[in-house]
Amino acid sequence: MTTKPLLQVLHGQVVPRVPIWLMRQAGRYLPEYRAVRENAGSFLDLCFTPELAAEVTLQPLRRFGLDAAIIFSDILVVPAALGQHVAFEEGHGPVLEPVRTPTDLSRLSRVRFGETLRPVSEAIALVREKLPPARALFGFAGAPWTVASYMVEGGGGSDFSTVKAWAYREPDSFAGLIDLLVEVTAEYLLQQIDAGADVLQIFDSWAGVLPDSALERWALRPTVEIVRRVGAKRPDVPIVVFPRGIGANYLRYASECDCTGLSLDTSVAPAWAARELQPLKVVQGNLDPLLLVVGGDAMRDAAKRILDSLGDQRFIFNLGHGILPQTPADHVAALCDLVHDWRR
Ligand code: CP3
Repeated sequence: MTTKPLLQVLHGQVVPRVPIWLMRQAGRYLPEYRAVRENAGSFLDLCFTPELAAEVTLQPLRRFGLDAAIIFSDILVVPAALGQHVAFEEGHGPVLEPVRTPTDLSRLSRVRFGETLRPVSEAIALVREKLPPARALFGFAGAPWTVASYMVEGGGGSDFSTVKAWAYREPDSFAGLIDLLVEVTAEYLLQQIDAGADVLQIFDSWAGVLPDSALERWALRPTVEIVRRVGAKRPDVPIVVFPRGIGANYLRYASECDCTGLSLDTSVAPAWAARELQPLKVVQGNLDPLLLVVGGDAMRDAAKRILDSLGDQRFIFNLGHGILPQTPADHVAALCDLVHDWRR
């Protein structure tokens, strides 16, 4: 049996202290991250240099009482490994050469996929060597819908009109892109397990922009299929799914997806999740990242409300979305203490 509290929770045990980690816990709010980032060259160079990626993965664990690390990388390394041009521009976020037609799709190639992503496995192996034994290590990938939306729109900050129009007008050809992403993402996650990841998270950050009628085909089913493929080979590695912004459709993920955990976005009422989701899944979430920026009583009251609703059953404390760059580090330390000191 594992001695890592976060894995114990995912394996169904109720543990004395609620475990906590934070989405985007490595990043710009930490001066030691900015220092490494400045000298690394491009953002993708940082992701693909194992020593540097391992170093920034471990940085937040040196400062805070977090129960897990998440390997430092990005969901957009997958399109990069398929040969799509991906760049991260200062102040603009990711910029991709868009894939919008069956011809564009046919130019993507799996030939160098495994090789391009090998540095991620090497970084995972390096983190494993230095990871304190009570802490877990997350591998991760984006879900096909979210990754496809960046691939088709050509970056973030869009209204999703191009990717939706493709999915609605020519579902069969759009399915070619989604199916490709299902295959390579399952392969990539298995690669991360083999390298030493002991739990996985699948980020579907933009599931919530799909109408109910399209959610099943483009978000739910592809994620279910990835979870099935990974689970068929490595049934003991827990998988947490984060379909952000889908409201009551969390119920469908709880009943139809074979994942171990569901990560809740900020909008989900903890008491509803305790009643409807927690009997079926481990629940993770869901403090508003802005409350972590604000800190003080506002943060403490909101965190306690979440703990009082969800802390009695299998629960992992997290944010409802990623840490914001303006977050003061001492608020993160205070949150970790508060969560660990809470008693059911
Ligand atoms: O600590 C960790 O959580 C691990 C690292 C991690 C990053 N991105 C590093 C990163 C993880 C898990 C991600 C996931 C990711 N990337 C998601 C899903 C989660 C979410 O936030 O919804 C998405 C949608 C992306 C795509 C992406 N990467 C965007 C839109 C941006 C630009 C916006 C921004 O925050 O800057 C990135 C860049 C990025 N990925 C940064 C980091 C630390 C900032 C870039 C920098 O440091 O220069």
